[in-house]
Amino acid sequence: MTPSASLLLLLLLGLSQALPLQEEGGKEDEAPDIVDITTRILTSNEGSDEILLEGDLLAPRTRNAIICYTQNCFWKKNSSGLVTVPFTVSREFTRSEKQVIVNALQGFHSKTCIRFVPRNNEIDYISVENKVGCYSYFGKVGGRQMVSLQRQSCVYYGIIQHEFKHALGFRHEHTRSDRDDYVKINWANIDPQMAYNFDKQVTNNQNTPYDYTSIIQSLSYWDITRINKLYSYYKLSSL
Ligand SMILES: *[C@@H]1O[C@H](CO)[C@@H](O)[C@H](O)[C@H]1NC(C)=O
Ligand SMILES: [Zn+2]
Repeated sequence: MTPSASLLLLLLLGLSQALPLQEEGGKEDEAPDIVDITTRILTSNEGSDEILLEGDLLAPRTRNAIICYTQNCFWKKNSSGLVTVPFTVSREFTRSEKQVIVNALQGFHSKTCIRFVPRNNEIDYISVENKVGCYSYFGKVGGRQMVSLQRQSCVYYGIIQHEFKHALGFRHEHTRSDRDDYVKINWANIDPQMAYNFDKQVTNNQNTPYDYTSIIQSLSYWDITRINKLYSYYKLSSL
């Protein structure tokens, strides 16, 4: 994506103000960094050779769209109602970078039914790799699936959670099917070549409202509710 296109995207998304990006899993109101999550993701992805939909979604080779119609796109729930998602972290990351990644993943554990666990020999798993940019597949693809977290620019608590939400089967708020009820897309300001990033998608909105805070908070109240709803986990369905 060109810088001007990403700038436009940001303006359209109402992100022109600097929002805090959380570092190292610290307190959310301590904001050492003044760049918001979306800005940093889009900036990081400018150098990527991948075809990225909506800025940071890899198109799977096994499905012709990043829409999922079957349960196969989601991770399996076990008899205790917990969803185990095995992962590996590339050796290219330093020990402290790996710790940031693990902290961000553990951030899901207390509030949702998701449990990220180090991979033993599971067939389906997430491989965290240091490629150019921060991006993920949408949902479970099957086999080894990459989440790219470029060392210099993506190893932040909020970005990591953002990309892993995609891997769990969540898309961006601004492409959800009912987004026109909530936001106005200013098509006149969009480069026609970039317009596909704003195509509405068939999404399961799970009776949850448009989450304006999802661009600011990495794991918002509605994110937590949706993760637990998608995986039918009601025990911890509220904060
Ligand atoms: C379900 O998954 C969780 C998290 O991986 C694990 O701790 C638990 O033992 C599993 N329960 C069963 C019954 O397999
Ligand atoms: Zn994204």
